[in-house]
Amino acid sequence: MGQEFESDRAIVTGGSRGIGWSVAEELVAQGARVLLVARHQDALKTRVDELNRRFPGQAFFYACDMGNQPACAQAVVQYALNTIGQPTLLLNGAGGASITNALDAPWSLWVDDFQVKFFGYLAMTRAVLPLMMQQRKGVIVNLVGIAGKDPNRNLPIASAINGALNGVMKVLADDVSAYGVRIINVNPGATETDLLETMAQATAKRSGDSVENVLKAMRARAPLGRLPSAADVAGVILFLMSHRAAFITGTSVDVDGGIHRGAF
Ligand SMILES: NC(=O)c1ccc[n+]([C@@H]2O[C@H](COP(=O)([O-])OP(=O)(O)OC[C@H]3O[C@@H](n4cnc5c(N)ncnc54)[C@H](OP(=O)(O)O)[C@@H]3O)[C@@H](O)[C@H]2O)c1
Repeated sequence: MGQEFESDRAIVTGGSRGIGWSVAEELVAQGARVLLVARHQDALKTRVDELNRRFPGQAFFYACDMGNQPACAQAVVQYALNTIGQPTLLLNGAGGASITNALDAPWSLWVDDFQVKFFGYLAMTRAVLPLMMQQRKGVIVNLVGIAGKDPNRNLPIASAINGALNGVMKVLADDVSAYGVRIINVNPGATETDLLETMAQATAKRSGDSVENVLKAMRARAPLGRLPSAADVAGVILFLMSHRAAFITGTSVDVDGGIHRGAF
């Protein structure tokens, strides 16, 4: 693909690990200037130093908690303007997925998880859209999750957040299509990242089983014989961000290896 993104400036939230890191790494390798966002400054600095060693001057970082909205989103965009320039790409990827159940989950967990992922993605999207509309160019990809289509009793909050993101991002895509700006949701199923390990630990604690057995059972359910890696999901995201996907917007793309059971 060469330097497909050399005229792009990207913000990647959740850029220090997992799927966000894979996307940031690929974008920089293909010529983009990228601002990585997460909470922990040390991890961000390590990643950005690594990128700049290979691709000097292309990577920057900003540490903030996406649960602090809309202030964090506004600060990220201001920092982007001072470093990478006007953003043309945004990956919303900062978040997690709490293993719990709907009735017993503390109210504060419902609120906190919505603050980080639902309001975090929405605040970042609202903060960058005017800049993209002004340029008549831009792509926003949201890492949502298959639980938005297949609500999961062990992921009640993530199921609700992902469903809500499917609704609001469709509406926003309608609002900005005339400006040449696209918005697409990507639905990973279980993906081999630190988050999968965290979810397996929480599941094991609740069931009394071992983490190894929980992970084994998750992997055994993968229709393609293995779960996707972060790089597998990132490859699809890079395609969706590219001009080759110029007519994909206002929809969601599943990258779950066939786990979703519905026909749509
Ligand atoms: N992996 C899966 O199985 C899977 C499946 C479906 C959907 N997803 C979704 O995909 C997204 C990325 O998942 P992943 O597997 O790549 O996760 P991950 O490996 O745990 O990485 C999460 C990233 O988000 C950052 N982050 C977390 N909370 C944050 C906050 N409050 N403010 C700012 N940054 C924050 C983390 O850095 P810090 O900790 O330093 O903040 C890290 O960079 C999430 O929204 C997740 O729900 C993942």
